[in-house]
Amino acid sequence: MDIERYLVDFDTSKIKIEYHDVIIIGSGIAGVYTAMEIPENYDVVILTKETLEISNSVMAQGGIAVSLDKEDSPELHYKDTIYAGAGLCDEKSVWVLVNEAAENIEALFKCGVKFDRKSHNQLSLTREGAHSKNRIIHAGDTTGKEVCDKLISVVKTKENVKIKERTFAIDLITCQDTCIGVITYEEDIKTYVLHLSKMVVCATGGFGQLYSHTTNPEVATGDGIALAYRAGAQLVDLEFIQFHPTVLFHPENKSFLISEAVRGEGAILRNIHGESFISLYHELKELAPRDIVSRAIFSEINKTNSNHVYLDITFKDKEYLENRFPNIYKTCLEYGIDISKDYIPVAPAEHYCMGGIKTDVYGRTNIKALYACGEAACNGIHGANRLASNSLLEGLVFGHKIGKEAHQLIKNSIHKKLDFVVNTGRILKDVEKNKIRCDTQNIMTKYVGIARDKEGLTYAKDRINEHYNKIVDMRNISIEDFELQNIVLLSKLVVEAALEREESRGAHFRLDFKKKDDIKWKKNIIKRKN
Ligand code: SIN
Repeated sequence: MDIERYLVDFDTSKIKIEYHDVIIIGSGIAGVYTAMEIPENYDVVILTKETLEISNSVMAQGGIAVSLDKEDSPELHYKDTIYAGAGLCDEKSVWVLVNEAAENIEALFKCGVKFDRKSHNQLSLTREGAHSKNRIIHAGDTTGKEVCDKLISVVKTKENVKIKERTFAIDLITCQDTCIGVITYEEDIKTYVLHLSKMVVCATGGFGQLYSHTTNPEVATGDGIALAYRAGAQLVDLEFIQFHPTVLFHPENKSFLISEAVRGEGAILRNIHGESFISLYHELKELAPRDIVSRAIFSEINKTNSNHVYLDITFKDKEYLENRFPNIYKTCLEYGIDISKDYIPVAPAEHYCMGGIKTDVYGRTNIKALYACGEAACNGIHGANRLASNSLLEGLVFGHKIGKEAHQLIKNSIHKKLDFVVNTGRILKDVEKNKIRCDTQNIMTKYVGIARDKEGLTYAKDRINEHYNKIVDMRNISIEDFELQNIVLLSKLVVEAALEREESRGAHFRLDFKKKDDIKWKKNIIKRKN
């Protein structure tokens, strides 16, 4: 048995088995919305490793991009998305995203989602980086929570949808190029369970936890991307990691996001001397694409020999700020920063992975019956740098498309009879797991961050390979073990992809290859050799 294929041993004649039509892994916006969109005559299970309410989507602040204003259009939204993506977007996927945005937002209204309004029949639209129009709909500065809360309350009423919390998806089960289920670990009963299905949707989010500073929650360990890779799915664009420019920089909190919408409402970036600097870097100033703003801050931090810059919104009054950004206002105050009077110390931190499991516009992967959507997937809409507030939208539009695919796929499909034993040959090992996890995160932060070069990436590759070799044959007995395997595996793949792309494009900036090279560099597709 290939030791890199499965993380645990199991025997199909002995293990507990459950049957479903559709398995959805992940309970962020992509997972929950997809579950709602599957026809009700099919039984669906959502597997989530924590509770339903814990996901990266819930933490989204800014909003959702959609061209609803009469001065706006899907064409303009398309142009902005393509511009931000630095020549790597898949045009067909972007068209689908922008053209199908409005109908999916309409579905949110029907679920009771409340967005801020200027008046009874007019939504309040704000702007974020690289948008040419005000098109971000929002619910204060907790848009993700408002959307997820409402979707979760709807999905809980669906009789065909079962929710299994504290259920960790370890590996996909495949049979002759088709995905037929998932081996899971159920924490409440401390048991492995084999879930068999006719369709599996991977909506597990990204891998912010590869880095020591990230806006992502602790659950963002890239499990879905790693298990898809082990099963033979193609991954793509892994080197493109988005660093959000403005993350709180406080000794006790370096992961709280200060939404781009704050800059959308006019906030100014200042260096530690209080000087505005961004016009030196881009004509769109504070609202340039995210990769450009992050690099400008990174450069200003280096120039001033500091570790942060400031965001200044002090020209707005307290009442306005408490009302427009209640969560940011309250959280900063907890750290002694009154944003109506004080500059907010900020620095870039990992925020989003543009790459992931390669899919087409219907969410299909190269493995039959395996679909992916949301941050775990990559259908090319973000290219080398995601346009602000396109991520919740992605979960909706492509979750909807997968829901529509389900019937065609499932209608004539039957559950496969299984009779096999997985014996990986893994051994119990005494390794310093916490040390490996922290060291990997530190290496990724230091050498695979905003600016990279061959020397740093080669060092990172060697160090991560050492960690990989220590755990590749380790017997895994807990969720922490599975997560560690996924973090180290994905770090290895990200570093390899970053090393291979000898050009600078979007979020991938090479100090030793500062120019974009459209002729030589296309997509970096990765697949496990098996
Ligand atoms: C933000 O509010 O700045 C984040 C929105 C996004 O990631 O698109």
